[in-house]
Amino acid sequence: LGAAGTLSAPVQAPASGTDTAFPLVILYGSQTGNAEGVAELALERAKARGFEARLADMAEFGKKDFKAPANYLIVVSTQGEGDPPDTAEGFFELINGRKAPDLKGSRFSVLGLGDSSYEYFCQMGKLTDARFAELGAERILDRVDCDVDYDEPAERWIEATLDAYQALKGESQAPQPAAGFAMPTAAAAPSAYSRKNPFEAEVLESIQLNGRGSLKETHHIELSLEGSGLSYQPGDALGIVPQNDPSYVDEMLDTLAMDAEHDLGEGRLLRDALLKELEVTTLTRPFVKHWAELSEASELKRLLAEDAKDELRDWLYGRQLIDIVRDYPVTGIDAPTFVSALRKLPPRLYSIASSLDANPDEVHLTVGIVRYEAYGRARGGVTSTWLSDRVQPGDTVPIYIDHNKNFKLPESGDTPIIMVGPGTGIAPFRSFMQQREEDGAKGDNWLFFGDQHFESDFLYQAEWLNMRAKGLLTRLDVAFSRDQAEKIYVQDRMREKGRELYEWLENGAHFYVCGDGERMAVDVHNTLIEIAKTHGGRDEESATAWLRELQQAKRYQRDVY
Ligand code: 2AM
Repeated sequence: LGAAGTLSAPVQAPASGTDTAFPLVILYGSQTGNAEGVAELALERAKARGFEARLADMAEFGKKDFKAPANYLIVVSTQGEGDPPDTAEGFFELINGRKAPDLKGSRFSVLGLGDSSYEYFCQMGKLTDARFAELGAERILDRVDCDVDYDEPAERWIEATLDAYQALKGESQAPQPAAGFAMPTAAAAPSAYSRKNPFEAEVLESIQLNGRGSLKETHHIELSLEGSGLSYQPGDALGIVPQNDPSYVDEMLDTLAMDAEHDLGEGRLLRDALLKELEVTTLTRPFVKHWAELSEASELKRLLAEDAKDELRDWLYGRQLIDIVRDYPVTGIDAPTFVSALRKLPPRLYSIASSLDANPDEVHLTVGIVRYEAYGRARGGVTSTWLSDRVQPGDTVPIYIDHNKNFKLPESGDTPIIMVGPGTGIAPFRSFMQQREEDGAKGDNWLFFGDQHFESDFLYQAEWLNMRAKGLLTRLDVAFSRDQAEKIYVQDRMREKGRELYEWLENGAHFYVCGDGERMAVDVHNTLIEIAKTHGGRDEESATAWLRELQQAKRYQRDVY
């Protein structure tokens, strides 16, 4: 085809076939695999247009990979408060550092994935976009920031970016008709069920795990996968498509003085849409902006000013959408206008607590029920209160599997593992241990668990003690924070056992952390560095580098929220 056979390679592209003179690099940074999935779709679309293209993970992209100018498509997600995916930390250090590469002659376009309920929405996308330009690369298309419902904007970004590269390549439009492309999700998944087409899973059991007197409310929930064809691996998450609380929705309708039965078109009724389709609790900054325009409330406008960021953060804390709707009324607002300001109700992800081999056709979850008081009313987590208060055994809930390549047991059953999972962070380790038992894996297993009280909060206590007795669990260290005057946390136990812990890691153990990402995971991370200093004779810099290497080698993996 084309000029493939000519001896003197033309500088410009051949007219058709795979174009080796204009290679694309599809660079991604992914925590749980969403950004990677988009990158894979981009690869498929690029190849279908005849581009030579390859995928590159930020985890493995070093300075030498930047040597030759390239045409980049960059997909990167943002975690929590504006952090990069764990495996991309080194990449960001590189591009932000003094030894950043010179990107003159390269071209790029960035897609950011994120969640607009966080302040630093798509921060890593923004940063990459700004930095690539500063380093001399040419931006061929404006950055696109995606909220949780990213499929469509991501697909539009891929096509627009490829159009731009195609134009630069000096070609007209894509030769293939759009109908010729298959969605990779459909091709990759053996099951007919996915995020876009969830399976109705029957609730088999829902058990309160905490004993009397506990301040916690944690449910063990078992769901049936029978007939779904769905499968999962330890470390994967379950996506649940929840429903909003009817009493909350009714209060909202009252406040807005809107008719529950208002027809939004094609028989889609307002109350139904608010219950099942739209986010009505989480107050995002884009919604505040919308509402400020509609209400013309000067206080809201002031909060949105560039220099009021800290004030806005404090103001948002504990507030839900209903609070702003109630406190800043918009006279005469109609249902379609209100609905168009809402984002889609995002599914919630829960780390799976079972092994499929040990529990055929079942998936188990450990769900912390979220309830609190704020601004004069009782509030709750949408999914957790739905599961605990309004779903009974025998009912079904829409679910899908969210595969997570970055939280996986070691390939070899002989490799030792260390697991740190306080509170509901215990979930994936129940799955890990069930799997290791099924596999007859010989590797050592060390679990750190923590919660408030031994009596009421030792989640799955009988199972751990049983595994310990059988020798399956090599070591078990627990930290009950409120059974004594001083707080004791998992990282305190790690520190106490620091010497052995360091030895395990030096002997090839993999280290896993699951649970609270805001404080616990940060403290555990810092404790690992401390341990490497105390027991590995390292200074701060060398200890940090050591931990970074573990992370890059995927021997230190986190599932935090
Ligand atoms: P606390 O509620 O007494 O503060 C699971 O929620 C366990 O994690 C609880 O025992 C909780 O203790 C504890 N926890 C709270 N903050 C923590 C932190 N920064 N590091 C580790 N554990 C923490």
